[in-house]
Amino acid sequence: MKKLTKYILIAVTGSLLIISCGKKKPGLVYFPDMYYPVAYDPYQEAVIAYGEQGTTVPLFAKQEGATVLAPVPGTISQNPEGILPLELLNTPEGYEASKQIVTSPLDPANKEKDLARGKDLYVKTCAACHGTTGDGQGNIVVSGAYSGVPNYKDRVITVGSVYYVIEHGRNAMGSYAGQLLPGDRWRVAEYVMNEFKSAQAPQVAATVQVADTIAQK
Ligand code: HEC
Repeated sequence: MKKLTKYILIAVTGSLLIISCGKKKPGLVYFPDMYYPVAYDPYQEAVIAYGEQGTTVPLFAKQEGATVLAPVPGTISQNPEGILPLELLNTPEGYEASKQIVTSPLDPANKEKDLARGKDLYVKTCAACHGTTGDGQGNIVVSGAYSGVPNYKDRVITVGSVYYVIEHGRNAMGSYAGQLLPGDRWRVAEYVMNEFKSAQAPQVAATVQVADTIAQK
């Protein structure tokens, strides 16, 4: 009798094991979306995955199917000008590539306004170190609290490299990308070039030479 119980137990456990392994699909799915969730990307058209396949989810129909919601009225754009950051890597090569950029993407028709805003931002953001005359003798340098700020005249720079340095920083100077939007970085860069480097036209030729040497390497 004991033996019989043992055999029955083995048989039952064995068949249970076989049944549980043999099933590939659950028999009945009540809520398929819960078993097989449908992941939509924000700007992808969200279509109904089950039922009337291929039709836009009605809730999102008015935004061409995109699940991402439109900004609420009164939202302030973070970058109203649509000028994107320069796609130059924060590497020595990226820095050298920036030197070859000699024009900014700003509209030359607004030059006067851009330079005025560039000056205002320069005075507020850069002059403490670089000085209002660009000689590297800003207030905190004169006070002795900080040193190593160069005179712009001693550096080979272009509007692109100034932009780059504002975005990524350079050596002892940190990045000012958090303070200035891309459009304003160009305005400050234009102001720096216009105000402190315009009397040094030969510098541009020297810059191109440097860039060429690097390109040849
Ligand atoms: C906290 C002080 C400080 C502030 C503020 C500052 N800089 Fe600098 N800047 C430096 C120092 C230090 C260097 C020298 C870095 C080096 O050794 O190459 C430098 C270097 C530069 C150079 C030369 C880089 C090169 O390619 O040789 C440029 C251009 C420049 N700064 C632009 C700016 C602009 C534009 C601003 C304002 C947005 C600014 N800096 C704000 C400290 C500062």
